[in-house]
This record gives sequence, C-alpha cells and structure tokens, in this order.
Amino acid sequence: MAGRGADAMSCTVRVMEAEAARRYTILLVSGSLRGGSVNAGVLRTARDLTAPSVVALPYERLGDLPHFNPDDDRDPLPEAVAHLRAQLAACDAVLFSTPEYAGALPGSFKNLLDWTVGGGIQDKPVGWINASMGGAKGTYEQLRTVLTYTNADIVTGACVEIPVPRSAIDGYGLLADAGLRQGIREVLDALVARVAERRREAGAT
Ligand SMILES: Cc1cc2nc3c(=O)[nH]c(=O)nc-3n(C[C@H](O)[C@H](O)[C@H](O)COP(=O)(O)O)c2cc1C
Repeated sequence: MAGRGADAMSCTVRVMEAEAARRYTILLVSGSLRGGSVNAGVLRTARDLTAPSVVALPYERLGDLPHFNPDDDRDPLPEAVAHLRAQLAACDAVLFSTPEYAGALPGSFKNLLDWTVGGGIQDKPVGWINASMGGAKGTYEQLRTVLTYTNADIVTGACVEIPVPRSAIDGYGLLADAGLRQGIREVLDALVARVAERRREAGAT
C-alpha cells in the first residue's frame, strides 16, 4: 500500500510539474501613476484577455520604489525593490505600457527600469504596447535602449503601437473595441510563443 501511495504521489507531482510547465505568467507594468490611466487600462484589458494557461500579474507598486541609488542595490534591498525583483523572478515575461512625458520616459518608470539593470529581467521575454495617440516613438526607442542594457529578450512581435483614445476606456476601465482587443491579444500570443520557444530550447517541455 505504501508503495502505491508513493507511486500516486510521484504521479501527482509529475502532473503538477507538467501543468506548471504549460502555464505562463506575464507581469504587466504600467509606466503611469495616474488614476484613470490609458496605459493601465490597456494592461487591465490584457489581463481580461489572457487564455486559461496564462496568469497576468499586474505590478502595482511603481510609486513605492525609492529613487535608484547604486549604494542601495545590495542586501538587504529596500522592501519595494525586493518585491519588484520577486515579481520579476516569478514571471515568465513582462509586458509594458507607458506614457510619454516631455518627450521621454516618465521619471518614475525610468526609476523602476534602473532598479532592473542590476538584475531581474535578463533573458526575460518582454514586449510593449505604445498606446499613445501622439506617437511617443522616441520614448519607446528609449525603452528599447534601456531594456537592451538589462539584457531582456525583446520580442519583436510583442512590441506594437496601438493608439488608444481616452474615450475608448469604458466604465470598467477596460477597452471594449474589438480591433484594439485583438491587437492586445496578438501581443500576449507573441509573448507566450516566445516563452514556449525558450522552454523548448531549454528542454523543459
Ligand atoms: C506633463 C505631461 C507631459 C506630457 N508630454 C507628452 C509628450 O511629450 N508626448 C506625448 O505624446 N504625450 C505627452 N503627454 C500626454 C500623456 O502622455 C497622455 O496624457 C497619456 O495618456 C498619459 O498616460 P496615462 O493615461 O496612462 O496616464 C504629457 C502629459 C503630461 C501630463
């Protein structure tokens, strides 16, 4: 009986491992602190659109991060930085959406990115949705530059422009427009496909 119990247990563990290998966790990072943010609305919609195999985890502590200081980038890390790094460690991919302020990345968002240069995002598949109506192309080029420094895996098919007017956000803080939703779905699919590809390369599945 004990042998059968052990067999059943190891079978359960294998099933759980197989299920975990088929799941994908995507961290959603908005570069805006604004209530009613369009970028947060885009990411909220991404969360709404995820397939059952995908867990979308909103990052919600942008405003808690201390100013980046290399002197503080050592143990014990500031609590909010440790939390950020833990969230990055727990995810398979990251999806960003940020506004442009004065022709550049918002300072608070650049601050978050600076905390990732020392670790947390290297080799992680990343993408972004530029929801700006005004272009913000320079800002997303800056994002590409910074993510290149972090050695993130920038997934071409997951880096898109989807202009979103403020009026497109509904009372639930979501995008209802079918075309916009399809664009976001394709970004999620591209990220998941890249994670799956990396897992195959690593022989994990
Ligand atoms: C101080 C300030 C500066 C801005 N600078 C730019 C800019 O340089 N380029 C741009 O396209 N939009 C600019 N905007 C507009 C914001 O990017 C836009 O309102 C965006 O929707 C904000 O993102 P959110 O809705 O996610 O908060 C600026 C807005 C503010 C408040």
